[in-house]
Parts: sequence; structure tokens; C-alpha cells
Amino acid sequence: MDAFEERTRRCQDRLAAVGADAAVLFPSTNLFYVSGFREEPGERHLFLVIPREGDPAFVAPEMYDAQIRDSSWVQDLRLWADGEDPTKLVADLADEFDLRGGHLLVDDTMWARFTQDLRETLPEATFGLASEVFDDLRVRKDDTELAALRTAGEVADRVSVEIRELGEEAVGMTEDELADEIERRLAAAGGDEIAFGTIAGSGPNGAKPHHRHEDREIRPGDPVVLDFGAYVDGYPGDQTRTVVFAGDPPEGYEEVHEVVREAHEAAVEAVEPGVTAESIDRAAREVIEEAGYGDEFVHRTGHGVGLDVHEDPYIVAGNETELEPGMVFSVEPGVYLDGEFGVRIEDLVVVTEEGCERLNDSPRTWEPL
Ligand code: GLY
Ligand code: MN
Ligand code: MN
Repeated sequence: MDAFEERTRRCQDRLAAVGADAAVLFPSTNLFYVSGFREEPGERHLFLVIPREGDPAFVAPEMYDAQIRDSSWVQDLRLWADGEDPTKLVADLADEFDLRGGHLLVDDTMWARFTQDLRETLPEATFGLASEVFDDLRVRKDDTELAALRTAGEVADRVSVEIRELGEEAVGMTEDELADEIERRLAAAGGDEIAFGTIAGSGPNGAKPHHRHEDREIRPGDPVVLDFGAYVDGYPGDQTRTVVFAGDPPEGYEEVHEVVREAHEAAVEAVEPGVTAESIDRAAREVIEEAGYGDEFVHRTGHGVGLDVHEDPYIVAGNETELEPGMVFSVEPGVYLDGEFGVRIEDLVVVTEEGCERLNDSPRTWEPL
């Protein structure tokens, strides 16, 4: 059986387990996960309807006919032409699959205009979110997914080393120029598209955890937060190092970097099957709190990574999910001193039977390489 079909059958088991009659997917990572067809969300009606039993069907613009047939095991296509009303096809499919009064799980990222449209087309149906079945399906990665994530990790590692080897050459470059250089090298190293907005936060900009990049020039001694990754076969890299390209760092930087590095190590060492996601957050946070920087660690310790850069399991206080082999997530503690600098160190890890495997291993030091 096709791997995507196998995932669909597991999705159907989960639909039955939660008492739902169908999932209605929109162009999304969920849709790719079960069908193999990948597309950006758009303004045209494009749904995959997965009934609890039987085979799924697409409702799709006719211009996608060949594209869907070539990429997906799902061959039941209900096509509509520009200028026609696609809601008629949706209503007909609901009749055929006996969904008019059913409980339908819609893709969490479906645009409101389409969920509204579904509610109007099927006024007797009730609605929930597809994450109710997909989060659990996707949280343990299979071998194909792990292979892609490992390669994405290697691509990020390679570029991290190459960028750090710029040394003094990076001084005088703007963050924008450095980000361009990172992205160019990610592509050259085998990455597909960038996985998220590249972060090159120099000096005080590093204290804003999700600062991207701007025209500030990098100065000697500036700590620079470098957080980047590229997709490989649909799976992203996501790695952070905080480095100094040349010169002496500001007072206190060395100590803060060491605290964050120890927090990172403590969290990675705590990863093993059966422990909770929140206990990994606690392991990192304790180190930072004991050093007196608890208030400056302003985000969770990590997030799951798969087809989405941010997905389950979230490594955050209150998440009592027990870790299982095959789960992949980031470990990324940070300390952010407003107006001065920030430090973050981030690796992706996969939970194994014994503990965890790191998907990144470029140097976690800050000094010029
Ligand atoms: N760069 C986004 C993150 O690490 O989550
Ligand atoms: Mn990151
Ligand atoms: Mn991350």
C-alpha cells in the first residue's frame, strides 16, 4: 500500500475513534501528509474529503487534474471549471458520503471563507478541527520523515560552520547581507526553500527573539543570533547559534552564553521516552533561573518539528504529553537582555528508545571558528 494511503487509513481509524464522520482538508501539510499532493492555499475551492470509511475524494479546480493524478494515490476527483459553482460538488459529495448531518473535522488552517461556505452548504452538519486526529498521527515520525529531517539538520550545520568561518569578513556586513549569504548557502548545500524567516540579530537586535534582519552593520564584538533552516523533501531544519565574528564581546556575554549552553545540555540530557514535555522545559529553565536570568528566558524551550516548523509536541510548562520514540522537537533555551544582546542555542532532537539523537552537531561555542 502506498505510504500516503496507509496514513489515510490510520486517519480513518482515528476518525472512528473520536466519533467524527469525515475530515475536510484544505491545501495544507495535513493534506500533503495523507495524499502526497502539495499546494499553497488559494482562493479556489480545493478540498480533500476523507470519509470515515471508503476512499477519499478531491473537490478541485479542473486545472489541477493532471497535477493531482500524478502526485496522489487519490484518484477520485470531482472537478469544477472556473466560472462554475463548486459548492454544488461539495453538496453532492456530502450526499454520496452521507455527511449532511455528520460531524466534520475541518483543517485548522482552512480559510474562514471556506469554513463559512461549508457551514452554509451543510447547515445540519457539526464541525470540529482536524488537529483532533492529525496531531496524534503526525507526532511520531517514520523513517522517511526522519531521513529528511536528518538531511535538513546537516544542511543547517554545514551553513552554520561556513558562515562562522567568514570571521572578520562578516564585520561591516549588514544583517540583511548576512541573511542573504545564509540563504544562498542553504540552497547551495542542498536545501529547498527556506523554512522560516532567517534570523540574523546582531547586538541589541539579538535580544528580540524573533527579530529577522535589517540594515544594521555588524560591529566587532557584537554577539549575533543566527537562527535558520531550509526544507529538504518537505521537512525543515531549525538551528540556532549565537556567535561573535571578531573582537571582544560585551561584558557579561561569556557568562550568559555559558548559562544558555548548560541549560541546552541539561534539557537534551533529560530527553527520553516516558518523561513529559514539560519536564524538558523545566530542565532548561532551572539552570537559567538558578543563574538569575529566569525573567529573561521569555519563551518555551521548544516545539515539535515536522511538515510544519512549529507543531506538537510543544516543550512548555503544562504540557504533560509523555515523550515517545520518533517525536522530533527543538531544544532552544535563550536569555534576552533588552537593549544589550541575546543568546539562544537550538538543536533539533529525535526521541529514541534510549534517550535522544541530536539532528544538529555544529559547534555550540560562540568564539570565532
Ligand atoms: N526560528 C523559529 C524557531 O526557532 O522557532
Ligand atoms: Mn529556530
Ligand atoms: Mn525553533
